[in-house]
Amino acid sequence: MVRVTDLPEWQALQAHYQQIAPLHLRDLFCKDPNRAERFHLEAAGWFLDYSKNRITQQTMDFLVRLAKACGVEEARRQMFSGEKINRTENRPALHVALRNRSSQPIWVDGQNVMPQVQQVLHQMAQFAEKIRSGQWLGATGLPIRNIINLGIGGSDLGPAMAYEALKPYRHPKIQVRFVSNIDGGHLASALEDLEPAQTLFIVVSKTFTTLETIANATTARRWLLARLGGPELADRPQCPEARQIVARHFVAVSTQREAVAQFGIDAQQNMFGFWDWVGGRYSLPSAVGLSLMVAIGSDQFFQMLEGYHAMDQHFYTSPLHQNMPVILALLGIWYRNFFHAPTYAVIPYEQGLCRFVAYLQQLDMESNGKAATQEGTPAAWPTGPILWGDVGTNAQHAFFQLLHQGTHLVPCDFIGFARPTWSAVRQDYHQWFADHHDRLIANLLAQTEALAFGKPADQVRTEGVPDWLVPHHSFPGNRPTNTLLAERLTPYSLGSLIALYEHKIFVQGVIWQINSFDQPGVELGKQLASKILPELISPQQPPLGHDSSTNQLIRWYRQHRA
Ligand code: F6P
Repeated sequence: MVRVTDLPEWQALQAHYQQIAPLHLRDLFCKDPNRAERFHLEAAGWFLDYSKNRITQQTMDFLVRLAKACGVEEARRQMFSGEKINRTENRPALHVALRNRSSQPIWVDGQNVMPQVQQVLHQMAQFAEKIRSGQWLGATGLPIRNIINLGIGGSDLGPAMAYEALKPYRHPKIQVRFVSNIDGGHLASALEDLEPAQTLFIVVSKTFTTLETIANATTARRWLLARLGGPELADRPQCPEARQIVARHFVAVSTQREAVAQFGIDAQQNMFGFWDWVGGRYSLPSAVGLSLMVAIGSDQFFQMLEGYHAMDQHFYTSPLHQNMPVILALLGIWYRNFFHAPTYAVIPYEQGLCRFVAYLQQLDMESNGKAATQEGTPAAWPTGPILWGDVGTNAQHAFFQLLHQGTHLVPCDFIGFARPTWSAVRQDYHQWFADHHDRLIANLLAQTEALAFGKPADQVRTEGVPDWLVPHHSFPGNRPTNTLLAERLTPYSLGSLIALYEHKIFVQGVIWQINSFDQPGVELGKQLASKILPELISPQQPPLGHDSSTNQLIRWYRQHRA
C-alpha cells in the first residue's frame, strides 16, 4: 500500500495549504458571495453549513480526490457488504445491518444476518412492552419501575447518552439509571433510594468478562438478594430460591450465552443476543439499546433506527462531494493533517445532548487513536484528533475564551435544532419556556459568526476603546466551524446524527490507513491492574517488581487503605 503522504493527491493538498493558510474567512466570504450556498448540504433531516471553513472550492476538490485515491468508495462498499474490514480481529464491522430498515439482505460468511437482527429486535420489543405495561412483575409481585443498566464503554455510553437525549419520550413511570464505574460509589448512589422489589438490572457486556460490569452485577445481585430474600441468601445466588428472584430482576445483553447462564440469568428467556461483528461503540442500535427501548418504547426506538438508516443510505449512495459524512471527514483531515490542529470540539446547543460529547469521545478516539497502519507499519502522519466539548451555552462560560482568543486553532462542530425537544411532548412547554429556545439559537449563531470573522483592532478602536486595551478586546477570527441543524431532537434525528459521525470516523480511518474497529490500546492497563490488585490486598507485604514509582505508590496505598 502506498503511504498516504506519498500520494500525489496528498502532496497537492500540501502545496495548496500554503496558499490557503494566509487567507482570512473575512476575505473568502467577501470574494465569494455565494459561498454559503455552495458549501452546504442536506441529508437525513440534517442541514450542514460548512462555509465557515478555511477552504475554497479547489480545497474541496483536492480533498475529494484524496478520498478517491485512498479507496473510500471501495472501503464503503466492503463495509456494507459484510466483508471482514476489521482485519486485526478478522471480522466485519457491520453495524449498518442493525438498522437496515430495507428488505435487502446483508450477508456475513454466506449467511443473511437480517433474520437474526429482526428476531432480537422483536424479542426486545416484547420485553420492553411487558415492562412498560406493568405485566412483568418482580419477585414480590410488583411491577418494575426502575431499570439499572450495568455496562461500561460501548455498553453504557450509547444508551446513557440517548436516554438523556430522548428523556421527553420516556415512560412517565419508568426511570433508567446507568452504572458503569468500578468505583462502588457509582452503584451505591444509584441504588440509594430504590425499591428493590421494583428494580430490574440489565447487565450489558458483549464479552461478559469486563471487570467493572461483572463486579457491579455481582454486587447488585447481592444487594437484591439481601433485600428481597434476607442476608443469608445474598451469598447463595445459585440456590433455587435465589435463582427465582434473580430471574425476575436480572436480564443480560451479551454475545456469551454460557457466561450469562453461569451468572444465574436464564439465558434462554432473559438474554438478548448480538454478534461479534458489532463493535461496542457501534452497538446502541443492537440489544445494547434495550434500556433505552424500555424507556421510550419500541416505536420510538424503531424511529431512531429509521434515522440511522436514512444516514446510512445517504452515505452509501451519495457521491463523495455531496456526502455529508465524507465532507465532515475531509474537513477534519484538512485541519488535523495540514493545519496540524491536534483537537476539535463538538458543541451541541441542546441540553438533552449533555452526554453526546462523552459518547463521541469513545466513538472517535477508540476508533482512530492508533499509530499502526493496517499493514503494521508506523503511521508517520497524525491520526485521530482529541475530541472534547460540552453543551452550549454552558461551554461559552467555560472554555470559549480559549476558542476565541487563545493560541490554538480548534475547529468546532456546532449542533442545534429549530424547535425545543420538550415541546414535542409537553403541551405547556411554550407557556413557560417560549423565549428560551430563540435565545439559545441566537447564541449558537453568534458564536460561529464571532469565531469566523472576529473583531479587528480597527473596529475596536472606533468604539472608543483606549489603545492599551485594544489587543485585549480584539478577536482574530478565522476560526473554522461547521454548523449542523435539524428540526428537532427526536429519535429519528438522533439516529441520523450518530450515523453521521460513525461514517465520518470510518472515512477518516480509511484515509489514515488504520483499522477503526479494534481497540488493543485498552488491554495493557487491564492486564497490569489484574497484576497489581493482589499486591494491594495481600495481608503480607508482597515482593514488588515494578518500577520504583509504581512500587512506592503501591506501598503508600497499602499503608493508608482502611
Ligand atoms: O474499553 C474497551 C471496551 O472493549 C470497549 O470497546 C467496550 O465498549 C467496553 O470495553 C465494554 O466491553 P463489554 O461490552 O465486553 O463489557
